[in-house]
Amino acid sequence: MSFNIIVGAQWGDEGKGRYTDLMAAEADLVGRYSGGDNAGHTVTVSGEIFKLHLIPSGIVHSKPICLIGGGVVLNPAVLLREMAALAERGVDVGPHRLKISKKAHLITPAHIALDKALETQKGKGAIGTTLRGIGPAYTDKASRIGLRAGLFSDLEATAVAIKKHIATKNKLLSKVYGMELLDVVEIVDQYIGYAKLLQAHLVDDMVLVHDYLKNGRSVLAEGAQGTFLDIDHGTYPFVTSSHPTAPGALTGLGVGPKMVDRVIGVAKAFTSRVGNGPFPCELSGSEAARLRGTGDNPWDEFGTTTGRPRRVGWLDLVMLRHAHRLNSLTELAITKLDVLSGLEEVPVCVSYELDESRIDYVPSDLDALGRCTAVYETLPGWQEDVTGIRRFEDLPVNAQSYINFIAEQVNVPIKYISVGPARDQVITIET
Ligand code: IMP
Repeated sequence: MSFNIIVGAQWGDEGKGRYTDLMAAEADLVGRYSGGDNAGHTVTVSGEIFKLHLIPSGIVHSKPICLIGGGVVLNPAVLLREMAALAERGVDVGPHRLKISKKAHLITPAHIALDKALETQKGKGAIGTTLRGIGPAYTDKASRIGLRAGLFSDLEATAVAIKKHIATKNKLLSKVYGMELLDVVEIVDQYIGYAKLLQAHLVDDMVLVHDYLKNGRSVLAEGAQGTFLDIDHGTYPFVTSSHPTAPGALTGLGVGPKMVDRVIGVAKAFTSRVGNGPFPCELSGSEAARLRGTGDNPWDEFGTTTGRPRRVGWLDLVMLRHAHRLNSLTELAITKLDVLSGLEEVPVCVSYELDESRIDYVPSDLDALGRCTAVYETLPGWQEDVTGIRRFEDLPVNAQSYINFIAEQVNVPIKYISVGPARDQVITIET
């Protein structure tokens, strides 16, 4: 039996999908525990690129069953499109293989319209959301007026609840935000259609997960977004509306803390962020362009969900140490080491300076974080192409030192290093 968690240690887009994919080969069940289709997980198998937003990345393996957990907010239209695209490519997404928690909350066109309205209203202070209706769906959940996926098991109840929900939101959209009314009849019909297609997939997630664990099987919890987008521990209000941190896996799938075996924190060899909000190590100009790439490669720094160019900066070890405290990481997986090849020197942020003091945490107060400046230590770079390397000892000495420096500074062993987007471009460090 094992319960392992994959968590993003930065602001999302760390490359969690590929480690879920790697670990899914050994798993019996892979469960998404938070977020919704704001996530974008890219998995490359034999040169074929799979971009997944809702379905756990484990689906591209034949063994594990996949679960969309109760902590997720689910847009059924997106889910069905994703299922159809996978089925077309020969991936089994039938009800015996893909399960949906009855507790997951549904996203509707009203949530998407409200997400847009709220962002527009905020003007310059906009969060830069993915406009997928994530925040408004979690708002309804917290207000105890949300629509849970379990509703889909009863078509009549679905029709009644969707009708009431859209009618209520229409008042808000038109009277408060001056937006067009949504078509109640059309949306009710759509949701009845979704219910018919998805009801066979519904399960009680914690019963399923505990059955697997009781029977000695292995469960992998797949995180979305990243630690610093956590609604409590991230750079509030520039965060998502859920708990992408490892504790979110416990509530999102219905498991207690004593069940956890491994917590794998995934971090890029540098830092990136999409959307607005503070970013102490942010770079601009040619240095940023160098880290971002041109967009020609699936590995380049352009959002999987939105296509937006990501903001980039040097590796921030203050964030990684902070992420370790929040997630109790047992190991780190470092992605995109290959992107740093060819640099003369690689700066790494080792602490922040705040009001003339050195600090080693990410302040929760946004003003204070905005006043933090990064204190760098500069490590020697390496020129060699590392994309073909599969053993740690074959990496250039300076690349090895870079990795060892991260492990020492964060005080977490590094288990995996990826050196390219393909499934096999990974170095595993046996401990
Ligand atoms: P929301 O989750 O769409 O509400 O967006 C809130 C913030 O989280 C914005 O800054 C988004 O850019 C960011 N965000 C949401 N999902 C992801 C993700 O999967 N990767 C990176 N950033 C994300």
